[in-house]
Amino acid sequence: MSRAKGAKVGASAVAANESPKPRARVIALLNQKGGVGKTTSTANLGAAFALEGLRTLVVDLDPQSNLSLHFGHEPAPDQPTVRDLFMDVNAPAQSLVHEARSNLWFIPSDTELALVEGELALQPDMQHLLSKRLEEVIDSFDVILLDCPPSLGVLTVNALTFADEVVVPMQAQYLALRGLEKLLETVLLVQRALNPRLQVAGVLLCMHESQSSHGRAVVEEMDGYFERFRTSGLPWQDARVLRPAVRRNIKLAEAPSFGKTIFDYAPQCAGAADYKALAGALRARWPSATEAIAVTAVPAA
Ligand SMILES: Nc1ncnc2c1ncn2[C@@H]1O[C@H](COP(=O)(O)OP(=O)(O)OP(=O)(O)O)[C@@H](O)[C@H]1O
Ligand SMILES: [Mg+2]
Repeated sequence: MSRAKGAKVGASAVAANESPKPRARVIALLNQKGGVGKTTSTANLGAAFALEGLRTLVVDLDPQSNLSLHFGHEPAPDQPTVRDLFMDVNAPAQSLVHEARSNLWFIPSDTELALVEGELALQPDMQHLLSKRLEEVIDSFDVILLDCPPSLGVLTVNALTFADEVVVPMQAQYLALRGLEKLLETVLLVQRALNPRLQVAGVLLCMHESQSSHGRAVVEEMDGYFERFRTSGLPWQDARVLRPAVRRNIKLAEAPSFGKTIFDYAPQCAGAADYKALAGALRARWPSATEAIAVTAVPAA
């Protein structure tokens, strides 16, 4: 795996693509609560899309930089990272893209990304930086997944400004539902002020234990919660509790310590089956190429 190789593959993907292709689907995996399954879901949904033949880019927007571990990538001190997307306009976005697997690329993060939050606050138009920089490479990909940090700060707002849809990894717990309302408020603010395309795809239940009666009751409440918004015109009017839920599965926790996605580490396990099915379920909800063009087209004056 090398930067040069990743960049070359990205470039050839554009060159080989002679007919116009639909714009890449950009998905932000977001929850301001920590440890809910954002990174595990980004890595393994990304791997699932790649196995389906979609050219997939996953971007680590978290200074904890856990995402790279799933691909066996060890951060090095002088290595360019996603921080350069924000702070170094002279670093071509493509030079930050690493090849992870067939059809799968990633942009790593580093702990210094935490400093970017403060520095960005001083820049005009800072909410659009990620969007502007990733536009440089978007045509090389079919799907882009953004692994957000556990906060609703500047990095998350940048992700929401670029995304088409938000997926919210969480557990079926009463308090998690309360946090969801705060998250949706942020999505609404960004949708109104910065990104009218933005929609909420739904809640992705991670580490799910379907036998728990509390869990079942919360899922029912979440289903009912989203139903109430069906014709609201709000960005979550089509949101769902996504099915299947990802079951608690120890293999999913073990895989990154071997530098592997679940499809490398234990392709027959429940975790692999759940992420494969989820990738299919998400994809089935994407607008067709024609609909996508109609949605993004600027109306005639
Ligand atoms: N379905 C699952 N079964 C078992 N363990 C899981 C599952 N999903 C995630 N985990 C484990 O739960 C922990 C938290 O997951 P993860 O790192 O994906 O959460 P996160 O939301 O990205 O956390 P952070 O907010 O810190 O970035 C990790 O140790 C991960 O391996
Ligand atoms: Mg994470």
